Amino acid sequence: MICLTITETSTEDTCRVIQNLSLDIEAIECRFDCIVDVDTACIDSIGSCLQKHRPKVSSIATIRRAQDGGRWSESEAARLALVRYCLQSGFFTYVDVEEDVYDTVVQAHKDGPTDKSAENDGIKGSATSTVICSFHSCSTFPADLRDMVHAMLTLGTPVKIAVMVSNSEEQLQLFQLARYLEKQCRQWFILIGMGPYGVFSRIMYRQLGFFLTYAHDAEEAPAPGMLSYAALRDEYRLGLHRKDTPLFGIIGNPIEQTRSPRFHNNVFTKASIDALYVPFLIDDCTRFMQLVRSLGIRGFSVTIPFKREIVNTLTRVDALAERCGAVNTVICEGDDYVGYNTDYIGFLQPLRPILATQSDDTDKLMRAAVLGAGGASSSVIAGLLELAFHVTVFNRTLAKAQSIAQRYPERVAAERLEKSIPFGFDCIVQCTKIGMYPDTKASPIPDYAFQGNEIVYDIVYNPVQTAFLSRAAAAGCICINGLAMFEAQAQAQATMFARAVASNGTVPMT
Ligand code: ATR
Repeated sequence: MICLTITETSTEDTCRVIQNLSLDIEAIECRFDCIVDVDTACIDSIGSCLQKHRPKVSSIATIRRAQDGGRWSESEAARLALVRYCLQSGFFTYVDVEEDVYDTVVQAHKDGPTDKSAENDGIKGSATSTVICSFHSCSTFPADLRDMVHAMLTLGTPVKIAVMVSNSEEQLQLFQLARYLEKQCRQWFILIGMGPYGVFSRIMYRQLGFFLTYAHDAEEAPAPGMLSYAALRDEYRLGLHRKDTPLFGIIGNPIEQTRSPRFHNNVFTKASIDALYVPFLIDDCTRFMQLVRSLGIRGFSVTIPFKREIVNTLTRVDALAERCGAVNTVICEGDDYVGYNTDYIGFLQPLRPILATQSDDTDKLMRAAVLGAGGASSSVIAGLLELAFHVTVFNRTLAKAQSIAQRYPERVAAERLEKSIPFGFDCIVQCTKIGMYPDTKASPIPDYAFQGNEIVYDIVYNPVQTAFLSRAAAAGCICINGLAMFEAQAQAQATMFARAVASNGTVPMT
């Protein structure tokens, strides 16, 4: 289930959120450390509000220290007194207690109330709270995490582990820990990978075996990498999936600009396909492929900068991907992982009809400039050659442009990317990440004066209208933004993913 973490700063606002909770919310976490001047009266008010308005919603009481990513700023003794109070109050289904204070808090609880007000008032709520034993490491993935977890399991209570994940190696370790917990933990567990590299664990929590995943409804995520409740419910539709739901995804670095998860999860929902598509920020294709095999991921998209590198980790690539020298789609076929390319057809789709309306002089030599020499560029160049263009590829690193040009010595030339390019190109295609979110003000070839007769194509789709395209449009050029290419390549991928689900990952693609 998805647990909404409430981080309001006052009792009134927390109660307002509880009263207005949407009916599909099954669990909430009250982060009392976020409430200014929190005291036992505040816990009573919120607990009573929960009992009155949302008696069936599971609740977690948490008072998080700063060192664990929380906002508690008073003394540890005062905090522990409130944690004990939460435990004694009987208002909450669960109370989060950090592993290093577990003995102190739980033993004191067993020995009877120690807090004065609790002693006076006795148990108020109707629940017998279960302790969640938690461990947080907000900046590192601890080397001795397995030992720590092993010790926590001996307590016989549910455990929550949240650790910073900073690379693909640690993503793999997180997965291995999840498998260990699934085998060893007699209670339920939560294992959160924090930070952008850990986002996948928050989305595929059910496939990793966790009891719940946390989500927020605030302007800013209260923990690094935590997603909004709306994103988990509406975009990823987590409520619909099972533990064995087929998994798909996208790898890239950066990845936050991608619209692929929204696109593919939407397609799955509309076609009533039980499948989940997850973004993975990665830094190592080989490590990621280990995760793919371990998790049984059925297929994935590949974006910047891995479209070439991924090829070395695959069993084979199909003829078109071979021709393009780049893979943007990987499908699991039995024991094999096969690379495909849908960028090529995606690129051509919006360009062909424009050229069809333009080409009155069919014998004219068409010249194209391609900015960038990465994986996307090589698919674009293969497409332009198919359309009979002669191409000059401009790249910051000249050697990469030359390496592409060497493959087509008759028709592709290489130049270093400077602030401008010569005049005379009929089509200019922007394939670098310059101008892509979040650096949206940047624009390549800033000194080039568009003539107004060029077709200008930017394959960046976030933002849809890049600064580069705005300059071209102002000069009267025919402009193509990256959205059409994105949708066409994604649609072709979606067809492959649907087939991979239907074939259960065992039948070769046709
Ligand atoms: P993709 O697979 O999406 O093509 P890629 O293979 O990493 O991603 O290629 C990115 C392209 O953008 C490269 O041509 C890169 O130039 P270098 O080969 O010199 O690295 C280009 N690029 C990225 N950032 C750039 C920048 N700030 N200025 C100029 N070119 C840039």
